[in-house]
Amino acid sequence: MMRVDQGNTNKVYIFDSTLRDGEQTPGARLNRDEKLEVARQLARLGVDIIEAGFPVSSPGELKAVREISRQIKGPVICALARAVPGDIDAAWEAIREAARPRLHVFLGASDIHMQYKLKKDPQQLLEQAVAAVKYARKFTSDVEYSPEDATRAREEYLYPLLEAVIKAGASVINIPDTVGYALPEEFGALIRRLKENVRGMDRVMLSVHCHDDLGLAVANSLAAVENGARQVECNINGIGERAGNAALEEIVVALHIRKNSLPYFTDLNCSEIYRTSHLVSKLTGIPVPVNKAVIGINAFAHSSGIHQDGILKHKGTYEIIDAELIGGKAAQMFLTARSGRHAVQHQLQQLGFSLEDLQLEAIYARFLDLADKKKEVYPEDLEALVLDHLSAAEPTYRLEYLQTVSGTKSIPAAMIRLKKDDDSILEEAATGSGPIDAAYNAVNKIAGMNIVLDGYKLDAVTHGRDALGEVNVKMSCGGKSVSGRGTSTDIIEASVKAYLNGLNKMLKINGNGPASSS
Ligand code: KIV
Ligand code: ZN
Repeated sequence: MMRVDQGNTNKVYIFDSTLRDGEQTPGARLNRDEKLEVARQLARLGVDIIEAGFPVSSPGELKAVREISRQIKGPVICALARAVPGDIDAAWEAIREAARPRLHVFLGASDIHMQYKLKKDPQQLLEQAVAAVKYARKFTSDVEYSPEDATRAREEYLYPLLEAVIKAGASVINIPDTVGYALPEEFGALIRRLKENVRGMDRVMLSVHCHDDLGLAVANSLAAVENGARQVECNINGIGERAGNAALEEIVVALHIRKNSLPYFTDLNCSEIYRTSHLVSKLTGIPVPVNKAVIGINAFAHSSGIHQDGILKHKGTYEIIDAELIGGKAAQMFLTARSGRHAVQHQLQQLGFSLEDLQLEAIYARFLDLADKKKEVYPEDLEALVLDHLSAAEPTYRLEYLQTVSGTKSIPAAMIRLKKDDDSILEEAATGSGPIDAAYNAVNKIAGMNIVLDGYKLDAVTHGRDALGEVNVKMSCGGKSVSGRGTSTDIIEASVKAYLNGLNKMLKINGNGPASSS
């Protein structure tokens, strides 16, 4: 069995599940290229483990995890599986090429899960867990086991279960507070008791995975660290199922700022936090609340006169975190139509993108196009182009032609031509309550789908009348919801691109597998 140094050091291992539990946030689905870009940035941030996905959920998910395993060097690459051979096979298929693969197996452990969801008795499920860990161990020595809903499970069941899965070969035991039910003191005490009383726990890594239903995920995670856990599972911006998971940036910065009371450390490169948060927010379409701890834009803003006066006299009066710690200050420079590939590439690197040559050529062509329309191309413009490009990878439908009519005295209408991935050209015209509604109706006719628009947001990427417009939409169809993004100097075109981006994502969702874990 793999021996780990848990308990001997004060290093806290950061297990990032943004691409798995985080991606289970409604509408946050990412395509392969978007997942890869996030994984690249997570590696730059220095997380120890990336949980890249739940491969059995769809063929596209499996492919994305496989690509991450092939390309991302540094962190352990982990894939999630229920405690059944089919899931474990799919997970292994996805991560087998990773330099350091990990299989993560989970199974319900609380009475409510066993009785109502799994409909099996505790002994049967204990045996299933042991069999699954043994099965996973045939592929790799790095096997993580999670007794789902552990904080509502009976402790007298958890002890023999955990002893048995450790004996079967689990190298990491993760204690999930699946429904965010625990309170910090009681969670810390549970972790201590498990550490002290479960035979074999000294040979494995003890981990925690906290959800935020009561707003206590970060506090619970820190309490667990104080009581012996040395791996913390968390997500960028705290995104995740329901109210989300423990926010990575809050845990890492709390450990950094309060090391006087919390004598632990992580190996994270804190100056990449802001960039990572921004990228995840842009790609998932989930905005960071303005008052979000550590990364919200108000976290470093001071509005009251008394506070401003104090800050001017000494920053420490009202600020405990320096924005520079998390890389919050971006250099402002702009490019023009005369800027060459090198300058564009440099700016892209500053923004945290490391694109392949082919992608760089495509972005450069789009940059020149934009620079012809706008005099100055700001970093935010360039970022919007790249995000647009990544989201549009491998589309089913591509916009070929768009014409709209609107005015005070005319009926708004749109005429749209789309190219499908089989190279067929499809055209439709429609009317609507405005030109965007008309265009969306025309797209619905082409796709033959009854898509409902649940949200629409238009922002200017920078300032000025020639600014790029960025449209974010939320849309749903048949119980599935996705987000879409599009940018253009023409806001109707940006709106249609966003809609098509969402439609393409929707078409990629495979409805056969389990949509999510928990
Ligand atoms: O919340 C949960 O229990 C999970 C497990 C799969 C670890 O996400
Ligand atoms: Zn979870």
